[in-house]
Amino acid sequence: MANRVNLSESEMPRQWYNVLPDLPVPLAPPLDPQTHKPVEPQVLSAIFPMALIEQEMSAQRFIDIPDEVLQILGLWRPTPLVRARRLEAAIGSKAAIWYKDESRSPAGSHKPNTAVPQAYYNKKAGIRRLATETGAGQWGTALSFACKMFDMACTVYMVRVSYEHKPYRGILIRAYGAEVFPSPSDRTRFGRSMLASDPTSSGSLGVAISEAVEDAATHNDTNYALGSVLNHVLLHQTITGLETRKQLAMLGIQPDVLIGCVGGGSNFAGLVLPFVPDKLEGKKIRFLGIEPHACPTLTRGEFRYDYGDVARLTPLIKMHTLGHGFMPAPIHAGGLRYHGDAPILCHLVHHGLAEAKAYYQTEVFEAARLFLQTEGFLPAPETAHAIKGAIDAAKAAEPGQNVVFLYSGHGLLDLSSYDAFLRGELKDFAYPEESIKEALKACPDIKGD
Ligand SMILES: Cc1ncc(COP(=O)(O)O)c(C=O)c1O
Repeated sequence: MANRVNLSESEMPRQWYNVLPDLPVPLAPPLDPQTHKPVEPQVLSAIFPMALIEQEMSAQRFIDIPDEVLQILGLWRPTPLVRARRLEAAIGSKAAIWYKDESRSPAGSHKPNTAVPQAYYNKKAGIRRLATETGAGQWGTALSFACKMFDMACTVYMVRVSYEHKPYRGILIRAYGAEVFPSPSDRTRFGRSMLASDPTSSGSLGVAISEAVEDAATHNDTNYALGSVLNHVLLHQTITGLETRKQLAMLGIQPDVLIGCVGGGSNFAGLVLPFVPDKLEGKKIRFLGIEPHACPTLTRGEFRYDYGDVARLTPLIKMHTLGHGFMPAPIHAGGLRYHGDAPILCHLVHHGLAEAKAYYQTEVFEAARLFLQTEGFLPAPETAHAIKGAIDAAKAAEPGQNVVFLYSGHGLLDLSSYDAFLRGELKDFAYPEESIKEALKACPDIKGD
C-alpha cells in the first residue's frame, strides 16, 4: 500500500473551484456599514483590484489560474499526500490517516497559495505596494515572498505579541525585502489611538487589519491583501483540495473525514470545498474544523453580521463571531485568534454541511509532539490542532476508514512555543462566556439578521 502520492507538474490543477454557484442556499452578501445594503464593487476598489473583487462575487464554477501564477506555484506544487502510518500505529488506529503537506512552500505554509495570485492581480492593476496584517507571521512571510516575485513593496503589521514571541518570522519577512511593524504601531491613526489608550497593548488580528486597511486606503499606490476569510482567498486555496481529490482518486479512496485547523478558515475550506459537490450528491464525508477553546468562533460564536476589524473600516460580513472587539488570550497558535471566520465556512457550518470542535492548547501540543516523534516533522502550533482532531477522529473511526487532514505549516520558526510546552509553562484557557456576551453587544443590529 502507498505511503505517499505525488502528482507530476503537469497534473497541477489549472483552475480554481468556486463553490458559490453550488451552494444550496445563497451566501449572505457583505453589507455597507452605513446603508446596510450590499456593498458596491466600487467601494471595495479603494483597497482591492477589480479582478479579485470579481472573484469575490463570481458565479462561475471554475476560474482559470493565470500562467504567471502557475509558474510561481510550480516552485513547490503539487504537494504530496502522505500516509501517517507510524502515527496510526502509535495510537492503535484501525483507520488510515493521510495528510496533505502544505508545509513545503517557501513561507512554510499554505498561505502562498493565495499570496501569489493576490500579488499578481495587484501588480497587473498597477499597484506598487501591498499592506497587510499578520498573526503568527506565516501570512506576512507569504505575502513578502509573493510581492518579491512580482517586484512589489510590502508592509506588514504584525500582532505585537507574535512580533515579540517570534522574532525569526520578522527577520524572514525583512529578508524577503518587506517592512514589518509591531501592531498597534505609531504608523497609522488607529494604531496611535490604540497606543494612547493602552501603551502595552499586545494587539490582535482585528487591530492589525485596521492598521493595514487604513494604510492602503490613505495611499493611492497601495492596496490591502487579506490572508484568509474572504471568498477569493478560499477560492485560491481550493488548489489543495483539488489536488487531494486527484490523489485520493488515484488510490481509489473515498475520504470519510476531512479535517483542518480554523483561524479564518482558509486552509480548511481549501481542502473541503472541492468535496462539497460530492457531499451534496449524498456521499458520506464529514468536514471537521478544529479551533482553540481560547478563540471558539465556530463552536461558541454567534452567526450574525459583524465588522471584520476593530476600527470598523471593513464591510459587515455574516459569520460566526465573538465580536469585533474580541481581545484573545496570548495562546501560542497566533494564527487561530481571529474573532470571526470565513463567511463561506460559517455558511456551511450553519447549514449543517460542516462541523467544528475545540481543543485546549496543551492537548494540542501533546498531539504535535506525538506527530514529531512518529512522523518526524515539526508542525506549526496551528496545524497541531488539525493533528489532534485527526488523532481523535481516527480513534473513533470504523476499521478501514480514511481520515484526511491538511498539514497547514511547519513549526520550525515556532520553537519558542515548543520550549514553553516542554518546560510545562503552557496554560489552558477557555474564552469566558461573559466576555463573549459583552463583546457581542458591540455587533451592529441588522434587520432580519
Ligand atoms: C500554519 C497555519 N495554519 C493555519 C492558519 C489559520 O489560518 P486559516 O484558517 O485561514 O487557514 C494559519 C494562520 O496564520 C497558519 O499560519
